Amino acid sequence: MRRRAPCIRASPAVILGATLYLIACNGEHVPHVTVAGGNADRGRLAVESYGCGACHVIPGVPGARGLTGPPLNSFARHVYIAGELPNEPELLVRWIRDPPSLAPQTAMPNLGVSEATARDIAAYLYELR
Ligand code: HEC
Repeated sequence: MRRRAPCIRASPAVILGATLYLIACNGEHVPHVTVAGGNADRGRLAVESYGCGACHVIPGVPGARGLTGPPLNSFARHVYIAGELPNEPELLVRWIRDPPSLAPQTAMPNLGVSEATARDIAAYLYELR
């Protein structure tokens, strides 16, 4: 009779491996991105006052449930901004200030955000891990 013990003995290792994989892929190792001059607390308030939530789902921002733009959940883990620009701080600041200057066809308008406020907003978005 064939015994299935090896298979049973392997399973805790498989479970451990799967658990570690899930932890590793769950944001624990997402490097922290800093934005020069940016303050995440001020950024969260600015996101609220500029009405970004009319077009985006944004964790931590009351009423931010818009579906016109992509959800900004886990934004720190997004690889691209608007599907084409590398997600790095200086480009994100430029994007927040004037999206059509980077992607002429984009539906996201220029909302007249200042450089300093865009830095705060970018700092907040990189807290979304
Ligand atoms: C009128 C709707 C609208 C408003 C208001 C708006 N956005 Fe957007 N946003 C969009 C759309 C649409 C896109 C997708 C752009 C594209 O792919 O060309 C986008 C894309 C983005 C992206 C890139 C997301 C990704 O994963 O690609 C970020 C970041 C972003 N918006 C931040 C903001 C912030 C911060 C504000 C407020 C200052 C804001 N948006 C206000 C419509 C809007």
